[in-house]
Amino acid sequence: MALFPQSFIDDLKTQADILRIVQDRVPLRKSGVTWKGLCPFHSEKTPSFQVNPDKGFFYCFGCGVGGDVFKFIELHDKVGFPDAVRSLAGRMGIPVPEPEEARKDAAADREREALLKIHEVAAAWFRDQLATPAGRAARRTLETRGVRPESIEAIGYGYAPPGRDTLRRDLEQQGFAPELLVRSGLLSKRDDGSVVDRFRDRLMVPICRENGAVIAFGGRAMRDDQQPKYLNSPETAIYTKGRTLYGLHLSKEAIRRQGHAVLVEGYFDFAQPWQVGIQNVVASSGTALTPAQARLLRRFTGKVVLSFDPDSAGQTAAARTSELLVAEGFHVNVAVLPGGEDPDTFVRRHGGQAYVQKLKESRPYLEYLLDREAAGRDLTQPESRREFLDAMLALAARIPDPAARDLFADRIAHKARITEEVVRAEIRRAAVERRASLKEAEAVRGLRLVGELKPAEKDLIWTLLNRPEAALGALGELDGTDLDGLAAEGILQAARSLAGFPADTLPESLLERLSTGEVLLVRGIGAGSGPAAPPDDCVKALKRLRYERERGDLQREIDRLQELGAAQHDAEITALWARKKDLLTRIESLN
Ligand code: CTP
Ligand code: MN
Repeated sequence: MALFPQSFIDDLKTQADILRIVQDRVPLRKSGVTWKGLCPFHSEKTPSFQVNPDKGFFYCFGCGVGGDVFKFIELHDKVGFPDAVRSLAGRMGIPVPEPEEARKDAAADREREALLKIHEVAAAWFRDQLATPAGRAARRTLETRGVRPESIEAIGYGYAPPGRDTLRRDLEQQGFAPELLVRSGLLSKRDDGSVVDRFRDRLMVPICRENGAVIAFGGRAMRDDQQPKYLNSPETAIYTKGRTLYGLHLSKEAIRRQGHAVLVEGYFDFAQPWQVGIQNVVASSGTALTPAQARLLRRFTGKVVLSFDPDSAGQTAAARTSELLVAEGFHVNVAVLPGGEDPDTFVRRHGGQAYVQKLKESRPYLEYLLDREAAGRDLTQPESRREFLDAMLALAARIPDPAARDLFADRIAHKARITEEVVRAEIRRAAVERRASLKEAEAVRGLRLVGELKPAEKDLIWTLLNRPEAALGALGELDGTDLDGLAAEGILQAARSLAGFPADTLPESLLERLSTGEVLLVRGIGAGSGPAAPPDDCVKALKRLRYERERGDLQREIDRLQELGAAQHDAEITALWARKKDLLTRIESLN
């Protein structure tokens, strides 16, 4: 097994400028299409060493050494191929896939592609089945539900026949591996080891990604005695329910155009409004919205009209969804349908115009809720007034805008017949408490930083907490510039400022100086297993990174001057070269 994926090596080679790399180590002058200089691999007085940047190789006519950019680094820096690759990638700021990860990434990509292909084939297969005699009942279901032929086509409904392995046999014949088919969720493995079609005798609803690729299915029962009513694909490598909005691929443009989305629950609550021209509709698929779904929607609009079932499950989902949407910064209105109707049945019964009217009559979520909560309580009773206030306060604290919050406070006060000032003060208190809990969110962000830390930073932080005396000495070797731009710059600078402190108080003093997020990050690293490198090596690694940064800057300046005209800028170029030499010596001395 190769150490690095070939695609990575190829990319690296394409992106690397061999001229730059060689120039860092050998002074070169342009001569036609190539660049010439004194060969670094044998001693000579006249330049016979050449670099051809277009072809990506170097060659010495004197000693016959030549090769590509990796070969040059190997020979010049006296390292093996893997280290040459790492050093080049580091220089270019391209992360090196760890062999294990690279294998996994590539394998995961292939798996996802295969699963998408299976879904594409299966969706077409289900559609074909709908047109067969066996699909007649499903066609009739669609017809009685008022789904028009154009919608059937656009939404892509299909039919899964009742046979136990009809789909399996067909897909296996097409060359799809049985194990992969099981992982796609289209087949399920039974306890006795047999593998059968998951969807049997069901009306099939394809669930798509926002680009229209089918990633899962919902299967609607055909008869009342068939359980469950909806059977869905399990989550797979390509399908996460909480990240998918049903119908978005068909409605995203209308949502953008109209400036808001109508959010409904079910597959058919989507279909009916959509086909009568309310095309900015999208479905949550029967559950409260997740933050990921909200963020997905946010890319298209900041306004939502919620049109959930008026039944109590629907209203609970509506409340949770609204709160989430409000917290994510959406404007939310709630539309109310008569009891017993959902958007699907309402549109069928009363027509699109009547539904549009209901959407128009929708009211801002807070007002809707205020009325609803107040209506269910006797606000003359102190106890229920307190309950009402608590429920409303929790809600009000989430309103990001203080003015809007005060306004809401006044409405609450009015309803509960309490002085406005009291309510406003309570809301402010609740908002402050909420901010405290937002600190936790910052902590989570801090944890995300972990991924951006260089190993040397991580190892140093570990040592700071676990062997402070060893870390202090090493820290003294670093100056502020060494830390410029590092992910842990803030943490390490804080540590540096503690240089004179007694070692045993260092961890505590450090933690005191960090933000909540940083504390979590530092604690997490400290609790992990020990460092891979001792502090001195970490210092060297950080210094090397800094010198590499400076060397890059110098080289860019040299190149710029050379382009402007080497002759006029000879003195400056020579001076820059001297600085670069000096840097190279320093880098060398780190090895
Ligand atoms: N749903 C689901 N899985 C379930 C139940 C429901 O994914 N086991 C989702 C579907 O998207 C469904 C929506 O929740 O369309 C609403 O479910 P439900 O209220 O049961 O739908 P009904 O309106 O009763 O279903 P239908 O209109 O098909 O009779
Ligand atoms: Mn319904």
